[in-house]
Amino acid sequence: MAETYGILTSGGDTPGLNAAIRSIGKTLMHLSGAKLIGFNDGFRGLAENRFCTLGDRELSGILIRGGTILGSSRDKPHRMPVNGEIVDMTDVIVENCRKNQLTGLFCLGGGGTQKNALRLAKAGINVITLPKTIDNDIIETDTSFGFDTALGIATEAIDRLHSTAHSHHRIIIVETMGHNVGWLALGAGLAGGADVILLPEIPYSEKKIAEAIEKRRSMGKRFSIVAIAEGSMPIERYRKFRREVTADLQPDTPKGVIAKLIAVRNDEYRNRNSAVLAESLEKITGKEARVTILGHLQRGGSPSAYDRNLATHLGSRAVQEAFAGNWEKMIAVRGSSLKPVSLEKTVRDKKYIPHNHPWIISAKNMGITLGD
Ligand code: F6P
Repeated sequence: MAETYGILTSGGDTPGLNAAIRSIGKTLMHLSGAKLIGFNDGFRGLAENRFCTLGDRELSGILIRGGTILGSSRDKPHRMPVNGEIVDMTDVIVENCRKNQLTGLFCLGGGGTQKNALRLAKAGINVITLPKTIDNDIIETDTSFGFDTALGIATEAIDRLHSTAHSHHRIIIVETMGHNVGWLALGAGLAGGADVILLPEIPYSEKKIAEAIEKRRSMGKRFSIVAIAEGSMPIERYRKFRREVTADLQPDTPKGVIAKLIAVRNDEYRNRNSAVLAESLEKITGKEARVTILGHLQRGGSPSAYDRNLATHLGSRAVQEAFAGNWEKMIAVRGSSLKPVSLEKTVRDKKYIPHNHPWIISAKNMGITLGD
């Protein structure tokens, strides 16, 4: 009897998810005739045993579609809201995998999904994961599908916002996604020609940003474009949060833990950060400032050609590793190759931008202000 595999998509949707689903399904069918069932809405569908068969008809025409045909959620197997209670559904999930006679389970998601998949692996389920997120914040992989498409969307937005910036001599602040890391803001800021790029990794000085804008004005540049990641913050706020979160922590607490605790506190400024900055810059410079928050636009629509191909290659390799019984791995991008890496390694931390990253060096070399 043909084997059966399961697949689910978890966390924020991204372009490329359907391309990955299609690749896994078609590779399974073509190489072994195996069956693929897709669980709906992430780990919740797995816990509730809600799934659909992904045959040739279901996989046709989805390569170019954004989002995920399976639906997604941020639910976690071990802490799932059930009738108002938080329940550990791991055992139920293990039983559902047994009932469906799954040879293995493919989990497509971001950092949280890697952690949840590792938990299921420890509970005895054969899992292989793919790196998916527009944030590009998964360690052990050079990139993740969704990032390139989001980069293109954010870059085009910055291109377009130049029109009103130079027509009205304004400060235009463009907020990208990137709750803890600034890859999207940095990449789109560079590609879109931003004059200031603000990142969660580099708490900024409003005074220094204003000075950079004034300096541009003294050179005859009457507008400025500021690209800011949603998780960025002024240095004063960062220092306050850092004092608060480290007050009760051990001196050897990992940097990633501290960064996460600070990011959680900064949450109260989500979608307000840019407005606060705009107000400050108007006061200091006397120039008009306007804010555009790109939000979920960056996760919308059809995947770029790069993301379609990346998702396709990752999916095909995931099936090869499954056939080889190489479970508990994430298929990672390493240069122009793919490499299965242990899930244990992918959950240690997030992939923050190193201060000496080539993109940071290029920005500084060109006089782009990073707020520090
Ligand atoms: O994790 C990807 C991401 O798009 C982040 O960049 C963003 O902060 C978050 O998801 C938004 O989550 P939600 O779609 O649940 O509002």
